[in-house]
Amino acid sequence: MKLALLQAKKNLGNTSDNPAVGCVIVKNNFVMSSGCTGINGRPHAEQNALIYSRNDIKKSNLYVTLEPCSNYGKTSPCVKSIIKSKINKVFFSLKDPDTRSNNKCTKQFKKNRVKVNCGILSSEMKNFYRSYYKSKACGLPFVTAKMAVSKDYYTKNNKGKWITNEFSRGRVHLMRQNHDCVLSSSKTISDDNSSLTCRIMGLEKRSPIRIILDKKLEISTRSTIVKTAYKYRTIIFFNKNNKKKIKTLKNLKIILVKTSLKDDGNFDIKKILFKIKKFGFSRIFLESGLKLTTYFLTEGLIDDLHLFISSKKLGNNGSNNFKKVIKLFSKNIKFVNEKVNLHGDKLITYRFV
Ligand SMILES: NC(=O)c1ccc[n+]([C@@H]2O[C@H](COP(=O)([O-])OP(=O)(O)OC[C@H]3O[C@@H](n4cnc5c(N)ncnc54)[C@H](OP(=O)(O)O)[C@@H]3O)[C@@H](O)[C@H]2O)c1
Repeated sequence: MKLALLQAKKNLGNTSDNPAVGCVIVKNNFVMSSGCTGINGRPHAEQNALIYSRNDIKKSNLYVTLEPCSNYGKTSPCVKSIIKSKINKVFFSLKDPDTRSNNKCTKQFKKNRVKVNCGILSSEMKNFYRSYYKSKACGLPFVTAKMAVSKDYYTKNNKGKWITNEFSRGRVHLMRQNHDCVLSSSKTISDDNSSLTCRIMGLEKRSPIRIILDKKLEISTRSTIVKTAYKYRTIIFFNKNNKKKIKTLKNLKIILVKTSLKDDGNFDIKKILFKIKKFGFSRIFLESGLKLTTYFLTEGLIDDLHLFISSKKLGNNGSNNFKKVIKLFSKNIKFVNEKVNLHGDKLITYRFV
């Protein structure tokens, strides 16, 4: 099951609305085959493992991280393929919260004399499937926020671009690729001219979709993000009627979503998150500055926060301090992960309730 979990991790953040699942087929203590959910959610992990097995897998044991599906969707049910392949026993870790499959496979397997076991490695798996469970439970996407701070907790470097070292920045790129989309503000885009892609060699194609909140449609058409929209899908949530800018951005392949404002003149972020989920995105990576991140925290919309802390102070060159914010929300922190040392920088992960 641990191998199956490693398989599941391969395509996390790249399986659209479907969960990232891993599957391993074992016979006489040999691994016969393995598979993970395909990019955009299909084929399912079980189908991949069954199809790509070169050996006779009859009477094998099949380990899968999530309950196999038993419904007819865009593909035929995995339960049916498993039965057809004459698998001896199926081990799955967690029940699928999707009502179309929940608690349905065991009966079908037993009827066809396939043995079943549920629950191996379930606590590790519950952690892995937090985003999937959340999106099924409340229709909201899972939000992971990232914040880089200097040793004295400034989030903005007035003199240069970076706050943390290249190892921290590499981690951020790795985190981007296991999310469906990265969300930022036009303020941050205009200050940093960031491209928000994953620039790790070999993983560039896993760059998340970029979503920008830009109420007044202020984004520069010369910004890197706009100039690369033909290559990386980019969505802007906006409110202002500016026909000329709308036409220009559309020509540059930007997807524009007009969104109403609340009485206070700001976007209703929760409403935007529901919309993002409707687009089929379940895992969001928030990379904004102090103001928008604080707003997300105030509204209780952040699930995990990765705080990268530099070994260097910014002093007078720093602005937008995060210390008070993290102190204010510390009562909502459920769990603090072990600190990771990144060649002098520190990474601390906070989980919010
Ligand atoms: N250290 C880091 O990890 C990190 C990460 C990203 C950025 N940054 C830095 O942060 C700086 C920008 O920080 P910032 O605090 O000025 O900007 P920000 O937090 O990135 O964005 C603030 C903007 O978000 C928009 N927004 C939309 N809906 C909102 C809502 N409901 N509530 C509040 N804001 C909403 C507002 O723009 P409208 O008024 O147009 O709606 C607001 O001006 C940049 O210089 C960048 O370098 C640092």
